[in-house]
Amino acid sequence: MTGQKTILRALAGETQDVPPIWMMRQAGRYLPEYRATRAEAGDFLSLCYNSDLATEVTLQPIRRYGFDAAILFADILLVPQALGADLWFVTGEGPRLSTITDMAGVEALKPTDDIHETLNPIYQTVRNLAGALPAETTLIGFAGAPWTVATYMIAGRGTPDQGPAHALKDQHREVFEALMTRITAATIEYLSVQIDAGAECVKLFDSWAGSLKGEDFDRYALDPAREIITALKARHPGIPVIAFPREGGEKYVGFAKATGADCIALDNSVSPEWAAKHVQVDGCVQGNLASSHMVTGGDALVRETRAIVDAFSGGPHIFNLGHGITPDADPDNVQLMIDTVRGG
Ligand code: CP3
Repeated sequence: MTGQKTILRALAGETQDVPPIWMMRQAGRYLPEYRATRAEAGDFLSLCYNSDLATEVTLQPIRRYGFDAAILFADILLVPQALGADLWFVTGEGPRLSTITDMAGVEALKPTDDIHETLNPIYQTVRNLAGALPAETTLIGFAGAPWTVATYMIAGRGTPDQGPAHALKDQHREVFEALMTRITAATIEYLSVQIDAGAECVKLFDSWAGSLKGEDFDRYALDPAREIITALKARHPGIPVIAFPREGGEKYVGFAKATGADCIALDNSVSPEWAAKHVQVDGCVQGNLASSHMVTGGDALVRETRAIVDAFSGGPHIFNLGHGITPDADPDNVQLMIDTVRGG
């Protein structure tokens, strides 16, 4: 497999002496060049829909650090917007959406085929990136997983416990499932066009998967992931998929086999030693340094980074954080993490 990009080699199951590395939210507010481009765009959503500027911010961390992968600059909440939800961001607080509480709300969503009208600038960003990235850099597309996207569409905002979504699921299951079906169909189409436009791998972000317990986890995190991955691989044979059922805990075990995912992204609530034994046995894993080290740096960063590289050295591994880097991170700590991974 020599000659192939390092990320694609890891996703194909190859164990490498030095694991390839990228970072969730690598294009973000901790970088001065990101803040400058975002100011030029006006606001976050304008930046997402401006293909030239979205291309620019995607490339910034590649230029600065030479990460092995670039992730498309966009947001998981663009799919609800493309389905007809109102979406806006309140500075310092986060996203706000119009809410869905009943079947009329689900039925008022736009047909799946109409999402591309809104999402066309995102596909253009993917095409720009496919032409602009260095030959060794893998382009990752992404979408939110249906449960996580549904939690925002139901509550109209981020919630600490996903309470409104759990309530709809438990009290009006038919409404909840109709919404999940609509999001799943839109996600398949969205990712499929990203792949046609040049994404070489796609990642499904299920940030709130950990709040689904027992059978609910299987029905609303695992089953939708399998449905999406199966559809994508039928249309795009060989396309690698990274699944991130965040805070999945013991549910990480067997998730790759059950869904067809090529790689499981791990948050930092699971120890690398445990994950090597129980998750990496089935294939590639990604993770899982705590993002707090990007704020605090120093010996602890170096020690933890080495421990993660060592624990996963016996199998395919992509180094990453356990969640997105935060705005208060120090760009020098990112360099220290990369140097530690690559230099030992
Ligand atoms: O990783 C990357 O660099 C790619 C781009 C990306 C963004 N959001 C850009 C972004 C990706 C992959 C996402 C995913 C996303 N978005 C998730 C899943 C992953 C996760 O973090 O759990 C979720 C839940 C969202 C929804 C979302 N977008 C929230 C809750 C917020 C507000 C919180 C915050 O950090 O401000 C956003 C905004 C957002 N998405 C920013 C970025 C760079 C910050 C916007 C800004 O510049 O002000």
